[in-house]
Amino acid sequence: MLSGNVKAILLFTVLSGMLIVACNTTEPVVKHDIIKGKTISSIVESMTLAEKVGQMTQADRRYLIDIDDIKDYYLGSILSGGGSTPEVNEPAAWANMVDIYQSKAAETRLGIPLMYGIDAVHGHNNVIGATIVPHNIGLGATANAELVRQLAQLTAREVRATGINWTFAPCVANSRDERWGRAYESFGEDPQLISELGAAQVSGFQGSSLDAADAIAACTKHYIGDGAPTWLTGEEGLIDRGDAMIDEVTLRALHLPQYIAAMEAGTATIMASYNSWNGEKLHGHKYLMTDILKDELGFQGFIVSDWKGIDGIPGDYKSDIIQSINAGIDMVMVPGDVTKNGYTYREFIETFKEAINEGSIPMSRIDDAVSRILTVKKDMGLLDNAFRNDRSLLASVGSDEHRALARQAVKESVVMLKNSESTLPLSKNATRIVVAGRGADNVGMQCGGWSISWQGSHGDITPGTTIFEGVQELVSENTEVQLSIDGTASSGADAVIVVIGEDPYAEMVGDRENLNLSEADIAVLNTVKSSGVPMVVVLLSGRPMIINEVLNDADGFLAAWLPGTEGGGIVDVIFGEHNPSGKLSVTWPASMEQIPINSGDSEYEPLFPLGFGLNY
Ligand code: GLC
Repeated sequence: MLSGNVKAILLFTVLSGMLIVACNTTEPVVKHDIIKGKTISSIVESMTLAEKVGQMTQADRRYLIDIDDIKDYYLGSILSGGGSTPEVNEPAAWANMVDIYQSKAAETRLGIPLMYGIDAVHGHNNVIGATIVPHNIGLGATANAELVRQLAQLTAREVRATGINWTFAPCVANSRDERWGRAYESFGEDPQLISELGAAQVSGFQGSSLDAADAIAACTKHYIGDGAPTWLTGEEGLIDRGDAMIDEVTLRALHLPQYIAAMEAGTATIMASYNSWNGEKLHGHKYLMTDILKDELGFQGFIVSDWKGIDGIPGDYKSDIIQSINAGIDMVMVPGDVTKNGYTYREFIETFKEAINEGSIPMSRIDDAVSRILTVKKDMGLLDNAFRNDRSLLASVGSDEHRALARQAVKESVVMLKNSESTLPLSKNATRIVVAGRGADNVGMQCGGWSISWQGSHGDITPGTTIFEGVQELVSENTEVQLSIDGTASSGADAVIVVIGEDPYAEMVGDRENLNLSEADIAVLNTVKSSGVPMVVVLLSGRPMIINEVLNDADGFLAAWLPGTEGGGIVDVIFGEHNPSGKLSVTWPASMEQIPINSGDSEYEPLFPLGFGLNY
């Protein structure tokens, strides 16, 4: 005779198993025949106002007041903002979490599935164990569009393995001022290169068909002029989210081509930018979002706001909603939570419906936005099969094959700025090699921001290969490899590799008034220099820094940007497994006084020009 408790445990186990099986099914699970095979217009006609407004609302999973709100408020999308991870941050836990959210959406009258969005901006970078590839500034140095496409394909597979179907990438910012904390999210300063690589990422994410089991929707961002502001124009930081004070000719020349290229590549969505253009917030800018992007250029996908992006529009919350939706925003990212400042998705939805009912937002605009969202969902196959998570992709997350491709990207991203007396490549048969500096054995510093957490962090944050480990793996068994973070063990070595650079940061947290090296880095460089041993400097940074002095002292100097988990790619360059091929995708300033400095400026005497890079 089974006790009540045992019965309850058995029942829970059986039900959980059924839920997992239901979630695991790859059979089409179409809840309601109202949507299957129907035209978008007929679905929109059948929708209530609450269902329409719900589709236009995106909430962050960590701020869901009640998981049933997904069903009760008909939410169209959920996101994981930076660091918004399941309790156990491992791939299968992500997939289980997303399936549960999808099952809530499936309980609504129409059963329209969620688009689940995440910042997979350099691999599936929120997930422990995933492959983290170089940030865009390093990809810019490769100038290799096919490689960038393959990396995006890799990322799409790892993202879909976790049940997620939308990434907020590519960032196609044209970063004009290196003091900006998002400079590393930009491919560089040449709109042509940005266009090529941004389009390649869109193609890699979305594949040949957006409804493939390993495709994810792209989100080209941040429209428009996110990289244009200069110092002290920022509202949040000192430059981030600032005011792009440029004329329309410059805006169209430097910041628009990459969106045209992304649309030609079929980007499903575009994200509005926090910045202003000559004093007017982009999130409320009808001329730029509707007249140019949708009418003049014919963008057929949908525009999603940035994180509380509409809140920055002057006026109260209701007027923010009215202005942004009427200006062309189709889906609003509403991550506010009841404990902190910011409006919750519940307040957003109630205020939004009020604005519609009083006639401040025409129903034609609502129907246009919902049609755009549902068209993307249909292209993604979401209106035919609610649960399409191919769990077999889990084996690809962080796989050797993926890491090998990421390592190739790292090799091609490294830019050699100095190599006096052919110090490089070092010999794999040296007697003793010392690896020094804060970045010597530090996957977190290799990855930079947007890595496991929003800001990223130093140390062993996720499985990967540090530069020290890479040297150990590559050199001969007779070579002694010694880790000496402070460089004091340098004397007598054949060579010392000193790895310095920036602490991880993201967005406005990375806005810097000066780009000088840290005291700690200068100290280790002086220590190694005093040993008189050949010194190879590796700089891990999200942008050019002021390196004039260290350049004089160094025998070899490599700009390695933010390479991600596969630090072995840098070691391949150091020891000649790869002839350095990286070329600067940004101008390298000789002093802070020169910044902003970009190719095409009338005065242009940088330390290294756009396109510079040495080889063996
Ligand atoms: C952030 C960023 C944007 C990101 C979004 C969601 O504030 O500006 O790039 O996609 O919020 O995390």
